[in-house]
Amino acid sequence: MPKLIVANWKMNPGSLKEAKKLAKESDVGGLVVCPPFPFLEEVGGELKKAELGAQDLFWEEKGAYTGEVSALQLKDAGVKYVIIGHSERRQNLGETDEMIAKKMEMAVATGLRPILCVGETKNEHAAGKANAVVIQQLKKDLSLIRNWQLEIRNLIVAYEPIWAIGTGTPDDPGNTVKMVELIREIAGPETQVLYGGSVTAANAENFLKHKEIAGALVGGASLKSEEIKKIVKIANRYRLLEK
Ligand code: PGA
Repeated sequence: MPKLIVANWKMNPGSLKEAKKLAKESDVGGLVVCPPFPFLEEVGGELKKAELGAQDLFWEEKGAYTGEVSALQLKDAGVKYVIIGHSERRQNLGETDEMIAKKMEMAVATGLRPILCVGETKNEHAAGKANAVVIQQLKKDLSLIRNWQLEIRNLIVAYEPIWAIGTGTPDDPGNTVKMVELIREIAGPETQVLYGGSVTAANAENFLKHKEIAGALVGGASLKSEEIKKIVKIANRYRLLEK
């Protein structure tokens, strides 16, 4: 199975013009581009080889939910993948595992491919609690999804230690491999586990060369087309170990 690189643009860039340019220049196979909501459709129009993803969705189908975006609206805009439970939403917006579970259920029910983000804080890491935190998140976040759905959908989980996001200090790849194995024990052996947290073209190979690591979720480095294309090129040299 080919490896997957997910470009999480977060709240960037500042204009549609820049977003379209970045999309056009980053358009390679094996990449999922996740722009901000207002740019989804136009960015999708620029992508011929890469796929379109969203950074979030809401758990209800429709109705009086000011500021939220539904799964059906995303599908209508051409979205195939959706990031759920990113740590920036957990931390800045108080998103709970209960909310994330409902979002996961909605994504699976509507045929969007969820990319569930899990990972421990710096303090939890220092206290040796990383495994316990990730197990707890997975159990809660997947609680509304039945096993047969996971098997059909081929779940994607991104292990993103919070202390590694945007800090320039990525995880130790050996540790990531152990975490991948733990996540597959809880979420199922078919689960594709990506790594996220300060991935760049310079360090991507350290992660992607491991047969256990299914790809990468890239933030900052995805805003430079040359950088993200290099990361995809590295990913294309390796394949995922299928269980
Ligand atoms: P980063 O972000 O690559 O800028 O560390 C990763 C993420 O938050 O998904």
